[in-house]
Amino acid sequence: MSTDTAVQPTRTTDAADSPLFRPADLGPLRLANRLVMAPMTRNRASADGVPEPIMATYYAQRASAGLIIAEAATPNAVGATYPNIPAIHTDAHVAGWRRVTEAVRAAGGRMFLQLQHGGRVGHPETTGLHPLAPSPVPLPGTVFTPSGHRETVVPREMTEQEIRSTVADFAAAARRAVEAGFAGVEVHSANGYLLHQFLSGHTNRRTDGYGGSVANRIRFTVEVVRAVVAEIGAERVGVRIAPGVTANGMSEDDVDAVYPALLGELDGLGLAYLHLVFADPEQPLFHTLRAAWSGTLIANPALPWPGPLPADGGRAAAERLLAAGADLVSLGRSFLANPDLVARLRKGAPLNPIRDAHLMYVGGETGYTDYPTLD
Ligand SMILES: Cc1cc2nc3c(=O)[nH]c(=O)nc-3n(C[C@H](O)[C@H](O)[C@H](O)COP(=O)(O)O)c2cc1C
Repeated sequence: MSTDTAVQPTRTTDAADSPLFRPADLGPLRLANRLVMAPMTRNRASADGVPEPIMATYYAQRASAGLIIAEAATPNAVGATYPNIPAIHTDAHVAGWRRVTEAVRAAGGRMFLQLQHGGRVGHPETTGLHPLAPSPVPLPGTVFTPSGHRETVVPREMTEQEIRSTVADFAAAARRAVEAGFAGVEVHSANGYLLHQFLSGHTNRRTDGYGGSVANRIRFTVEVVRAVVAEIGAERVGVRIAPGVTANGMSEDDVDAVYPALLGELDGLGLAYLHLVFADPEQPLFHTLRAAWSGTLIANPALPWPGPLPADGGRAAAERLLAAGADLVSLGRSFLANPDLVARLRKGAPLNPIRDAHLMYVGGETGYTDYPTLD
């Protein structure tokens, strides 16, 4: 970031100087700015996935984001990944989430809910059920369970009947999310969870209509999205993708074929948005996907992972993405550590450093609702 004195005063005093702070339309929603809070699992739900009241406090604190995408919530019991992640398949889940959406709405915020099925990222100790996946290819290493890290198990290959019922579970979960007061849902087809597992030939070794060719491997994500659209309407549905991201033991050999084909199927549906993880405008794939997507693109910049974050919290990277054609930009860890991130970025104020030890797997207020605001 330049220290040029001619640049700094306007950057630090005038909210209108950056496109990040300009309002945007997302379907029927008017967003106050272009900064989106990325979905982040924080493990503060009850053991059976009901959002706790503290989650309403946490999200309401961050309601100045143009849009909040709430953390991954599981659409059925077997899809739960880790202990204390929220779910959205019972009346109790809906009631718990309603507290959250009401608090965010009262604070002026807008909110989607991410729907995530873990597939092979799960454990019988967490769910009481054997994980399901496209193929019996285990997650390498260990997975977190209520009794700590455990060796992963070999998932069971989903039958076609289980594929159909999982598609239906996503649609039902989307309906419940709307009942709970969310403006829409984000279908999670990224970061090594079930839908992403179908996209990669390493985790998907099927020989039926859901495996093998690119057209077959994208089928499950397309069916889930179509079912969710049929249930709640396209303007309430986003999709998250992470081409080439190696989270959760993923590897992909053919991202240049898979993702344009996937967008070819999804673009005509009129979805609320496409959410691209670790978006890098230096990479040709970013521009290929931008060109293939006629709707709103939310880009999540490729900031250093696991860290440290840049001192500007990702603002310069976010502005580069807007300049390269993104419509909105999502930030994760900067929102986690800065409830008033939007105000801080507007003012050029210093950011709270993230307390890494508190990212996951701990309950309570510490590292969750106790990050200070400027005032
Ligand atoms: C604590 C934590 C939990 C996360 N949980 C999710 C999640 O539930 N769903 C998801 O799609 N991404 C999840 N992510 C990834 C973030 O959405 C985001 O892509 C990532 O943090 C990179 O953005 P950043 O550099 O601004 O933090 C998580 C990240 C963190 C740090």
